[in-house]
Amino acid sequence: MSGKVITVLSTKGGVGKSTLTRFLSIVANEQNKKVCIIDTCQNSSIATGFLKDRDSFNKTAYDWLTGDAKPSEVIQRYKDTNIYYIPSDERIDDFEDWVSKKVPKLRQLEVIKVKVKPLLAMFDYVIIDTHPNENSDIVNYSIAASDFCLIPSEVDLDSKLAAIRCVEIIDDYKSAGYSVDYGIAFNKVEFTKGKASAQMRTMKDEMIQKGVGADKFLGDIRYSTTVSTSKNEGLLLSELENKYTKNIMEDFRIVANNAFKRMESEVTA
Ligand SMILES: Nc1ncnc2c1ncn2[C@@H]1O[C@H](COP(=O)(O)OP(=O)(O)O)[C@@H](O)[C@H]1O
Ligand SMILES: [Mg+2]
Repeated sequence: MSGKVITVLSTKGGVGKSTLTRFLSIVANEQNKKVCIIDTCQNSSIATGFLKDRDSFNKTAYDWLTGDAKPSEVIQRYKDTNIYYIPSDERIDDFEDWVSKKVPKLRQLEVIKVKVKPLLAMFDYVIIDTHPNENSDIVNYSIAASDFCLIPSEVDLDSKLAAIRCVEIIDDYKSAGYSVDYGIAFNKVEFTKGKASAQMRTMKDEMIQKGVGADKFLGDIRYSTTVSTSKNEGLLLSELENKYTKNIMEDFRIVANNAFKRMESEVTA
C-alpha cells in the first residue's frame, strides 16, 4: 500500500475544512479505505467532532511531530471503522517554534512529510486538517507533504479571494518542483429547485478567468443543518442517512470521489 496525502486548506476560517476532512474520511470508510486524519488545529475540532474529550489524550500530534511519541501512541481509532486520527491540542501552536530551533533550515519544509511517510504504508489516505493562517508554517509543511490539496470555499467574496490565494500558494509549490494537485469545493451552497445559486456560477467563472481550470471544481456541497447536528451528536452522517441527510451525503460523495479520482490519475499521468 502506498497512501496519498491530502491537505484540506483555506486561508479563511469557518469555510468547512474540518467538516470536509471528516466527510472525506466517512466516504473513504464507506469504500473500505483506511484513513488517518492528522489534526493540526489548536482547538482540536476533529477529536471533538468524533466525540472524544481532548483532555483524555495523553499524547497528541505535537508529541508525535516532535519525536516524543510513536505513531501507535497517538493514533486513535473512531469506533470500529477504518477511520483513525491523530488528535491535536494547543501545543501545536508551538510546533513552528520547535521546528525553527531544532530542525536544520534545509529540512524544515519537509518536517511533516518525513513524519507522514511511514503512515503511507498503513493507510490509503492521510488527511491533514489545517487551521486558517496563510503565514502558518504548519500549512506550508502540510502542502509540502501532500499529493493533493482540497480547498473549500463558501459563496462569498472573502472566501473566493481566500481560495484564489490558496491556488497561488499551491502553484508556487508546483513551480518549485512539488507534484501537488488541488481541487476546489464550494460549501454551504444554497440550492433552489435543485439549482445552485447564480452567484456561485459567477464566482466559478471569475476563478476560471484567473486561470483555475474548470476541472478543478470537484462539486458543490449544499447548506444543511444536519451537518452541525451530526457534529454535536458525534455521529457519522451515514449512520443517520435519511431523507434529510441523503442529498448532502451525495454532495460529499461526489466531492470526495472526484478528489480520490484525481489522485489516481496522477499516478498514471
Ligand atoms: N454544508 C454545510 N451546511 C451547514 N453547515 C455547515 C456546512 N459545512 C460546515 N458547516 C458548519 O460551519 C461551521 C464551520 O465549519 P468548519 O468545518 O468547522 O470550518 P473550518 O474548519 O474551515 O473552520 C461549523 O459549525 C459547521 O458545522
Ligand atoms: Mg477547522
